[in-house]
Amino acid sequence: MPFDKLRPQVEDILNTKELSVDHRLTQVCELLMETIPYYDWVGFYFKNGDKEELKLRSFAGEPTDHDIIPFGKGICGQVAVSNANFVVPDVKAQNNYIACSIHVKAEIVVPLFVNGENIGQIDIDSHTADPFSKEDERFLEFVNEKVAEILE
Ligand code: SME
Repeated sequence: MPFDKLRPQVEDILNTKELSVDHRLTQVCELLMETIPYYDWVGFYFKNGDKEELKLRSFAGEPTDHDIIPFGKGICGQVAVSNANFVVPDVKAQNNYIACSIHVKAEIVVPLFVNGENIGQIDIDSHTADPFSKEDERFLEFVNEKVAEILE
């Protein structure tokens, strides 16, 4: 099971204090994208200061035009206000969806909490239809809990 092997690797990266937090987050994105065949874009968005919008902080995969996403817009913006995981098996079935690439078939967004407050999220795009399971949700919740521990 790749997630069991990935958990300690994610912890090792996040505990590498010689690297900046942004650098560590980028390395986690790269590790996940390279290891899980159906993870084709991985990124962390965070609340942009006092604004009601998300800002892309670190990612792996193709650059996106959507580095700012208003709360409520797209899958990411909906998670910013719902505080709940959003698993999208088929992006074509979503009305409130922001397309980043024509290749994307499915998406998962898991909120990131610090002291109970939803301050960001991890976002995965997949070129495979309906690839995500509860295992992905539990794993991405774990990643976000570990990221929360290193955010100041
Ligand atoms: N598809 C997302 C936008 C971000 S990209 O996937 C990188 C959404 O609907 O919020």
